Amino acid sequence: MSFKRSHHCGDLTKNDAGKEVTLCGWVSRRRDHGGIIFIDLRDRYGIVQIVMDPEHDQKDFHVAETVRNEFVLHITGKVRLRSEDTINPHIPTGEVEVVAEDFAILNPAKTPPFYIQDGIDADENVRLRYRYLDLRRPEMQKNLMLRHKVAKLMRDYMDNNEFLEIETPMLTKSTPEGARDYLVPSRVNPGKFYALPQSPQIFKQLLMVAGLERYFQIARCFRDEDLRADRQPEFTQLDIEMSFIDEDDIMTMVEGLIAYVFKGALGIDVKLPIGRISWDDAMKYYGSDKPDMRFDMKLVEMNDAIKNSNFKVFRDIVDKGGLVKAINVKGYYNIPRRELDGLVDFVGIYGAKGLAWIMYNPDGTVKSPIAKFFTEEEMKNILATGKAEKGDLLLFVADQKAGVVAQALGALRLEMAKRRNMIDENKLAFTWVVKFPMFEYSEEEHRFVAMHHPFTAPCDEDIPKLLTDQAHVYAKAYDIVLNGTEIGGGSIRIHRRDVQNKVFEAIGLTDEQAQEKFGFLMGAFEFGAPPHGGLAFGLDRLVMIMAKRSSIRDVIAFPKSQSAIDLMSQAPNTVDEKQMRELHIRSTVFQKESQKENTESKDK
Ligand code: AMO
Ligand code: AMP
Repeated sequence: MSFKRSHHCGDLTKNDAGKEVTLCGWVSRRRDHGGIIFIDLRDRYGIVQIVMDPEHDQKDFHVAETVRNEFVLHITGKVRLRSEDTINPHIPTGEVEVVAEDFAILNPAKTPPFYIQDGIDADENVRLRYRYLDLRRPEMQKNLMLRHKVAKLMRDYMDNNEFLEIETPMLTKSTPEGARDYLVPSRVNPGKFYALPQSPQIFKQLLMVAGLERYFQIARCFRDEDLRADRQPEFTQLDIEMSFIDEDDIMTMVEGLIAYVFKGALGIDVKLPIGRISWDDAMKYYGSDKPDMRFDMKLVEMNDAIKNSNFKVFRDIVDKGGLVKAINVKGYYNIPRRELDGLVDFVGIYGAKGLAWIMYNPDGTVKSPIAKFFTEEEMKNILATGKAEKGDLLLFVADQKAGVVAQALGALRLEMAKRRNMIDENKLAFTWVVKFPMFEYSEEEHRFVAMHHPFTAPCDEDIPKLLTDQAHVYAKAYDIVLNGTEIGGGSIRIHRRDVQNKVFEAIGLTDEQAQEKFGFLMGAFEFGAPPHGGLAFGLDRLVMIMAKRSSIRDVIAFPKSQSAIDLMSQAPNTVDEKQMRELHIRSTVFQKESQKENTESKDK
């Protein structure tokens, strides 16, 4: 039997009426109208209605009656126009149907665990377990098609701009990207481990030393982090590095790429140049280093407005150098009491010790548990500082630590915008976040650590401060943010050995430690490293936003669950003791598990 198709299901239109066609596909839906059976046949290209009528196909009709959802069919028949009243405006093929003349069941199917349709609310774990069925759903196929298109456009753009796609190793040495590594034991080197790359960072810098000048790679990266909706243990980057450039060069190149990809994949014109905000300002106004700029509601500092007041809680905080900030939730003076109480718990998650509020009623009065501490003049000043108009709600967080205020109010800002429907889902708000601090203080390790990675170049004017004032050294680092998600990040790298040494010293690395960790890179830099820099996009995150999904799992064919498990293959799993021995590994957990499995299998 030939499986050759004359058309795809989704391609048929009224122009095909009268044509004899051969189709293959899956049964998306089957309705038995007593004597006539209607089948929605699905392939990658769409869905078309098939009519099985005993008048046209006497001999096979009883077979047609056995057809169920997800059976694989081969059908020959004639396209005909549907009558006016049976046209389905919701699908592109809705004006036609195919009257089957001959058909064959290529394969039956068990009843699937969920409907193979868009917009289902099946438990995600079940979808992940039967991912091959989940991926049959048109919306999931659309996501994968978009992902393909985006990757293709990226390759084209990079190629047009003389970048070379170069692969770098998967079995490599632990890189200092900050997350935990996935390790791979070496059989032939007992007791030694490779690390899977957290990114190709060091290799791409070595390619610059090697004189390749412009590199890119659509690269798989591995990070053993706690997972979230926008984090997977393995994910994909569009990784880029260039030589003889400064920040503006790379940012312009990347902006061109963004415009090219959005135009090519979605037909959207991205307005260039993309705006820039310093890290300091992003934290100050949005309480976040990845500000969602689709709406306003900036954080406002209230220190001046309350510093002379009688409200001891706030005054004490200000007197000790802390911060009092507020957001103005427009038009929400009538927030229910219960919701307010819930918000106190909400900010508590971020370490805030309280949440104060002022309702500015439409009649000009204010309602607030802290109003009694302020004179009329002070209250006026507070409302003016918060740009509050009648009908607005001000929410305050105060803390000794600027970070707590930023985190709590930044998260509250997002939460209130969602609850109040203030986010235009069709908007694309890009921004660069620039001038990151070079270091952040790690309370855990009692030392400064690199905020990006230790090869990031400090701003020229801050080099003299590297060893004396780490808290105020800024870096030539930049992130690209879209709708509150960090979709990419990069930096200009250090290419001078003396500066690199100082940075290592600033984060408390001794010469020996630096040598042991990145000696091969440092060694390479002694043979003429060009000035260079780059950036990496999170491809999954970018496609997630382009596809208007809220989880990157929806744009990855075979993602891991929240607990880093592949629910379909059940990886990770235990392995043979023999395999472990060969790898010179002994695991206490392993021994317990395998004993359990052994007794279980004996029980069977
Ligand atoms: P960075 O660590 O910022 O930079 O990563 C670049 C981008 O990759 C995406 N990303 C992730 N996506 C999904 N799951 C994850 N676990 C995950 N972690 C990161 C983000 C992020 O912006 N080598 C540097 C780049 C450079 O300096 O050139 C790097 O990897 O979208
Ligand atoms: P108190 O007098 O401590 O009961 O506080 C009065 C109001 O101030 C209450 O609504 C508290 O939730 C609020 N509050 C207390 N501490 C803070 C803080 N650190 N930040 C914001 N609001 C606070």
